[in-house]
Amino acid sequence: MSATAHHSRLTASAIRERKGATPIVCLTAYTAAMASMVDAHCDVTLVGDSLGMVVYGLPSTLGVTMDMMIAHGQAVMRSSSRSLVVIDMPFGSYEESPEQAFRNAARLMRETGAGAVKVEGGVTMAPTIAFLVARGIPVMAHIGLTPQAVNVLGGYKVQGRASDADRVLADALAVAEAGAFAVVLEKLPETLGRRITGAVAIPTIGIGAGVDCDGQILVVDDMLGLFAAFRPKFVRRYAEMAGVAEDAIAAYATDVRARAFPGPEHSFADNSSQTS
Ligand code: KIV
Repeated sequence: MSATAHHSRLTASAIRERKGATPIVCLTAYTAAMASMVDAHCDVTLVGDSLGMVVYGLPSTLGVTMDMMIAHGQAVMRSSSRSLVVIDMPFGSYEESPEQAFRNAARLMRETGAGAVKVEGGVTMAPTIAFLVARGIPVMAHIGLTPQAVNVLGGYKVQGRASDADRVLADALAVAEAGAFAVVLEKLPETLGRRITGAVAIPTIGIGAGVDCDGQILVVDDMLGLFAAFRPKFVRRYAEMAGVAEDAIAAYATDVRARAFPGPEHSFADNSSQTS
């Protein structure tokens, strides 16, 4: 990689400095084709462990492995050039100790070339975040609904309602103090998203946490409508891609069965010099 290519990418510190300024635009991407489209318009491309459900059809993110994150992180890095690529640390790769977290975070960054990692957890993970940052790993934190803790939380429920708000605020303050460059706020009341955004010195990136966060993130497949039946309240559908894809696949199947595809324009003549 040339020095020029390296420096043209947004850095974690540049994102950190966007606190309170123009909203930070983030989406997930897991594949080369999607990464190049996301990279053209977004500040942060997250290789989220949501890929476990979106790409692999797993029931939750708990089955995601380091090898999966590395393979998809490499694909996204190859097809992006300007956004900050952040890679999720999968369940079980960082919670045991700061040393375990460093070993796996360093591997993710070394083998993909990504600019930062993301970890779930607030007060409990703050010492680990401080350990990573002190050793050269930029960390995006993730609090509120943390999907890797679904079995403890009892489902994908809104967090921080009423008397639970102070707990989530304490998580936000702890990860900011620990040195995270930004924090994802997932599924919180809008009022709490606003309160946390005003209380911490780092950018908040909302997903179901209201319009006042310093940035927003969505799972790209959700906002493109690639899963027709999955409609979380916090997702706006910017397209209905599942319907478009199904219609195209059905039309292809009809054409093949009717011998209407391939046509002459897709077929090669025996006597032509054309090779492709
Ligand atoms: O895994 C993921 O895609 C995420 C975002 C939803 C924030 O963590």
